[in-house]
Amino acid sequence: MGSINNLGGVLLRYLFSALIIVALVLPASADYKEIFEKEFLNQPWGGEMLAESACIECHSSETMDADLQKIPQEWKTSWHFQNNVSCHDCHGGDPSDAGMSMSHQRGFTGSPKYAEVPDFCGKCHIGILSNYLQSGHGKALLFSGTGPNCVTCHGSHNIQKANIDIIYGRRCTQCHSYERAKVIKQALFLTETKMQAIEDNLRKLKADGVILSEEEKTLFRTQAEFRTLFHTVDVSLVNESTDKFAKILTQLEEEIKATFDELRFRRNFSAFLSLLFIVIGVVLSILSKTYKD
Ligand code: HEC
Ligand code: HEC
Ligand code: HEC
Ligand code: HEC
Ligand code: HEC
Repeated sequence: MGSINNLGGVLLRYLFSALIIVALVLPASADYKEIFEKEFLNQPWGGEMLAESACIECHSSETMDADLQKIPQEWKTSWHFQNNVSCHDCHGGDPSDAGMSMSHQRGFTGSPKYAEVPDFCGKCHIGILSNYLQSGHGKALLFSGTGPNCVTCHGSHNIQKANIDIIYGRRCTQCHSYERAKVIKQALFLTETKMQAIEDNLRKLKADGVILSEEEKTLFRTQAEFRTLFHTVDVSLVNESTDKFAKILTQLEEEIKATFDELRFRRNFSAFLSLLFIVIGVVLSILSKTYKD
């Protein structure tokens, strides 16, 4: 009789410690999310989105020429829209005053001419502008007007997140052979593939509630730094830099792998605990039956 009581007590104690372990292990990932949200609310230049913009209102209205009327719609699909970069951030002017919005006194600069586009975009994308100006493309634009400008490759109102898919036949063969475009795409490929894999894995972890904000930030910085490189269109420079980027990315890959391993361990451990509870439950019910009998 006494020994059965003792057994029940021991089991209860196990149950209690197991519960404490579960309480400690399971919610550990919740606070990552908060940190991440704080970090990512302050994007580099993103200003505050105006609830009302005279630019958008008038430019979407029926008074606009059909071609121009499409512009606000295009812009709404862009990465700039998602980052609160609005009409007046690029074109200047005053979005709060319909009557004066396009006046030069309010800083309106109008639509840039072909050769003015790099400076127009480069007031925010400073590092890229500087690489571009030193490149074969930038020099060709400056000296003979024959180089591509930012809009040639990115568009103007429907600009999306950039990647190496921007480099393709029809776009790059307007002025020279695709051979020249292909060698630089090959030079970018390895690093881009690694960065993409890391981005995908961080997304998978996030879906599981684990947010690695330090790693997110490192990836964001590394991508930005690497992607300005293309704008030199200097194949040997890209090749020389590949080792440096490989080091940073390998480190990230290792941290992510460790997190996946930890997650797998936690999962197996919770599965083990659930199983343990079931077994304990069964044993207890058998014991209590035995006890009553
Ligand atoms: C009340 C209506 C109205 C408002 C408000 C307005 N626009 Fe316009 N905008 C127009 C019309 C109409 C045109 C086309 C006719 C023309 O070329 O003058 C135009 C033309 C433009 C152009 C092309 C000009 C060029 O140099 O070719 C740009 C860029 C532009 N608007 C940007 C803006 C921005 C930015 C704002 C807000 C700060 C704004 N607009 C506010 C009506 C408006
Ligand atoms: C990322 C910067 C950027 C933003 C944001 C932007 N534009 Fe533009 N816009 C340009 C550039 C560059 C050009 C000139 C090249 C071109 O015609 O595509 C241009 C040209 C224009 C033109 C002249 C088009 C033509 O065919 O003559 C109009 C009108 C205009 N923008 C209106 C707007 C309005 C309205 C918004 C907000 C809904 C807006 N833009 C947001 C960069 C921008
Ligand atoms: C007022 C500042 C500003 C201007 C002007 C501007 N941008 Fe941007 N751009 C941003 C911000 C903010 C982002 C979002 C943060 C990021 O992704 O780097 C962005 C993002 C981008 C991206 C995607 C970057 C990525 O992460 O893949 C491209 C491409 C781009 N801009 C091209 C242009 C081009 C081309 C022009 C000129 C037509 C231009 N931008 C003008 C502020 C600006
Ligand atoms: C509007 C014309 C134009 C377009 C479009 C264009 N290029 Fe070029 N590209 C040039 C000119 C001009 C040069 C410099 C003169 C030369 O070396 O032929 C050049 C040179 C280059 C070079 C060699 C640079 C060097 O320093 O040796 C590479 C690489 C290159 N382009 C890649 C590309 C890629 C990739 C694309 C497509 C995303 C592209 N180009 C689209 C005009 C263009
Ligand atoms: C010849 C085509 C071409 C021209 C011209 C060009 N870009 Fe790019 N841009 C690209 C390609 C390709 C990438 C992606 C590179 C990669 O994935 O490594 C890119 C990437 C970017 C990015 C993303 C960087 C990030 O943080 O992820 C921005 C922003 C950008 N370009 C802005 C500009 C601006 C501003 C100009 C003009 C000064 C410009 N580009 C001119 C082809 C071009």
